[in-house]
Amino acid sequence: MGKQRVLSGVQPTGNYHLGNYLGAIRNWVEGQSEYENYLFVADLHAITVPQVPYDSTRLASDTYTLVALYLACGLDLDYSTIFVQSHVSAHSELTWLLNCITPLNWLEDMIQFKEKAVKQGENVNVGLLDYPVLMAADILLYQADKVPVGEDQKQHLELTRDIAARFNHQFGKPDQQVLKLPDPLIRKEGARVMSLADGTRKMSKSDPSDLSRINLLDPPDQIQYKIKRCKTDPIRGLTFDDPERPECNNLLTLYMLLAGKAKKEVAAQCQDMGWGQFKPLLTDTIIESLKPIQEKYQAITEDKGYLESVLRDGRQKAQAIANQTLAQVKAALGYSVPL
Ligand code: TYM
Repeated sequence: MGKQRVLSGVQPTGNYHLGNYLGAIRNWVEGQSEYENYLFVADLHAITVPQVPYDSTRLASDTYTLVALYLACGLDLDYSTIFVQSHVSAHSELTWLLNCITPLNWLEDMIQFKEKAVKQGENVNVGLLDYPVLMAADILLYQADKVPVGEDQKQHLELTRDIAARFNHQFGKPDQQVLKLPDPLIRKEGARVMSLADGTRKMSKSDPSDLSRINLLDPPDQIQYKIKRCKTDPIRGLTFDDPERPECNNLLTLYMLLAGKAKKEVAAQCQDMGWGQFKPLLTDTIIESLKPIQEKYQAITEDKGYLESVLRDGRQKAQAIANQTLAQVKAALGYSVPL
């Protein structure tokens, strides 16, 4: 039996942060030799919220930064195919076909849509509502077995399964499903990294305050400043899992994951510490763990020709699989086969 297939992606909207790394990218890297991996830049998703102020160079430059970061974080082209969503037109085409079998109220129920719609006020476009169908198309085109993501994407993955099941039920044959139902891969730790400014909100690329997150490309002095300024509490002795101390749990978890220590070990090490002792320890750990990524990123990002060749290869490999699924879907829907 061949390897199972993994598919996942990140939106190229700048400010790639520790949540993206610990919730997603690091997990792709760790498991990559076990799977056949398709990892992409979700640039069609990136225009579901208005680009303000519009800068015609931004989308492409954020895309290259993200591809360079994927490689710098350790994605290995022997195991992983890296591509850009908009380079494979089957994503848009399958989205349309799936739109026509997806009930509107399924989309209106999506938590992320409701949250983002509130933020956008009057300015909610159809793309924001349709975003989860595009995400379903991304996944189903590759007949993915596993989708490693952070906790915030869980509902979108459940929707993806529902759409696939509905399609198979309406248009498949009883003994042959057209679309594979994927399983989410959500780690227990790191699946929800919280904001440095408020331990009850998740760390986010779109938070207007840069002090709320550690970006993967932040220089050491900025990391030090952000940790110095981050929200804590007046209690001495640091503990995990106290609902009254969300910031404490978040910062200990960051330390645990980046230092590669067991929870028990960190709990014992930090139980008598005050913030004055813990913050420098956390700062050094973050700086040290991001250093090799940042160094590799610098080397890769200077070679645009190399990045372009990675994306050309990725596009070809992705297209071969995506177009095959798209043809199967169209055939199941009763479209005539092109001559
Ligand atoms: P995006 O770009 O918002 O986030 C990329 C990945 O990072 C995870 N993540 C987090 N994990 C832990 N803590 C956080 N604070 C945190 N913030 C973000 C996300 O869960 C995600 O795994 N819709 C997706 C991109 C996408 C996709 C797909 C993913 C498009 N199509 C198909 C998987 C499969 C998104 O906006 O992720």
